[in-house]
Amino acid sequence: MARVLVTAELPPGGLDPLAGHEIVLEGVDVEGIVCQLTDRYDRQALASYPRLRVLATVSVGFDKIDVAAATDRGVAVCNTPGVLDETTADLAFGLIIAASRLFGTAEADLRSGRWTGFGLLDRLGRDVHGSVLGLVGYGRIGRAVARRAKAFDMTVLHTARHPTGEPGFVADIDELLPALDILSLHVPLTDETRQLIDGRRLALMKPTAVLVNTARGPLVDEDALADALEEGRLFAAGLDVYEREPVMNARLLSAPRTVLLPHIGSATARTRTAMARLACDGVRAVLAGEVPANCLNPEVL
Ligand code: DGY
Repeated sequence: MARVLVTAELPPGGLDPLAGHEIVLEGVDVEGIVCQLTDRYDRQALASYPRLRVLATVSVGFDKIDVAAATDRGVAVCNTPGVLDETTADLAFGLIIAASRLFGTAEADLRSGRWTGFGLLDRLGRDVHGSVLGLVGYGRIGRAVARRAKAFDMTVLHTARHPTGEPGFVADIDELLPALDILSLHVPLTDETRQLIDGRRLALMKPTAVLVNTARGPLVDEDALADALEEGRLFAAGLDVYEREPVMNARLLSAPRTVLLPHIGSATARTRTAMARLACDGVRAVLAGEVPANCLNPEVL
């Protein structure tokens, strides 16, 4: 039996794989940690757990974990790939529709009494069906969004770090941006992708285009996005993630034609339970001397 630190409350059943181990809510004398995406484990933080063998995050993104530092310390790192793809793609597609059809401002108008009756020229959005969807990142979630887009007769273009050899591949993001009506981001946050969509790239997009981000906030320069929305150089934005969560950029909050959600991409009870179980199973496996498939640095095992 090992001692495992769990940093956040998990959904019912999430901890089941760790039955038989001692679960603690604080302390550093632990062999395993189950954390969530907001917990930062840099080199210094990892050094405070001298007995740590495995760290598992209940998220697919692991940008707050220094995997190289963990590897140096012989600590296995696990995440939750696969189990949240369809749920996150549902949310991304929801934002594509909500932002393009101005759900945010339309609902706010209704709730605040600004809706005075049907108007032929009121709240005119952009069609989703038949439009060109550009995916930046064509991994599991990007592909799941592409499948949904097919049902809306959309043309799907994508860019990725390496050529995919599939129809719709565009090697250069700067060529993709002017060609699309809707941009959806599906890349992890790394040093290379931070501020990927900056002012220069926003200026490459059509003024009628819509930007959707369900990946990580720092992929987008929020001030540049607010500028583009305010000046009518971008039609709309649908965001689920932000640069400094949970602190919101005040300019984004007041920018026109935005739909803003509080990082709920994977937030269904079934998916969150599956994520928790997968992370805990990674911890269980490492403690049992196995090499789990969701280990990011299996070389340490
Ligand atoms: C993740 O898992 O990284 C998502 O951002 C939240 O589920």
